[in-house]
Amino acid sequence: MLKLRYATPAAWVDVVEADLVGFLQDHAANEHRVSRSALSLALQFPERRELVDAMVDVSMEELEHFKLVYELLKARGASLGQEHPDPYMRQLRKRLADPDREVWLLHRLVLFAIVERRGYERFAMLGDGLSDPSLRDTYQELARSEARHHALYLRLARQYFDAALVDERLERFLDIEAEVMRGQPLGPSLH
Ligand SMILES: [Fe+2]
Ligand SMILES: [Fe+2]
Repeated sequence: MLKLRYATPAAWVDVVEADLVGFLQDHAANEHRVSRSALSLALQFPERRELVDAMVDVSMEELEHFKLVYELLKARGASLGQEHPDPYMRQLRKRLADPDREVWLLHRLVLFAIVERRGYERFAMLGDGLSDPSLRDTYQELARSEARHHALYLRLARQYFDAALVDERLERFLDIEAEVMRGQPLGPSLH
């Protein structure tokens, strides 16, 4: 697994615990967004069969996570939150945009690999530190899924692009991700 260049402070788990419903609402919105992003990647590159197959599967899996988090909200008498942009994702997408279609695909795969790695870090922290044992189990399971997605995006990047090029982008984007993450307030949100 890639090593992130900014470690989320342990206090983040307490921030989440203090507003669990707010966090779950943000988490649900995130699952919905990643499901949509995976599907739109499939639709943008219909000629890449293996990518399409993988993205259709990932999109469905993320939508199942969305449903799971929605159930957690309902069990707490809460509803879905208001749809709102994720400043972390917005900044990263803007920084990594590229007019060339192939480069854009490379950037997307590298970016998603890093974002899933961040998801792994944070879900694993919740799987370890939340006080509710059943929620801990849920987040451990979700962390495993993020680790699988992380590996999948890396594998796809290396399948379609030169290894040295992928490594060069990883090197650069890991720094950018750390900088963007460090700039986010430590709130009851996934990013
Ligand atoms: Fe997910
Ligand atoms: Fe994921």
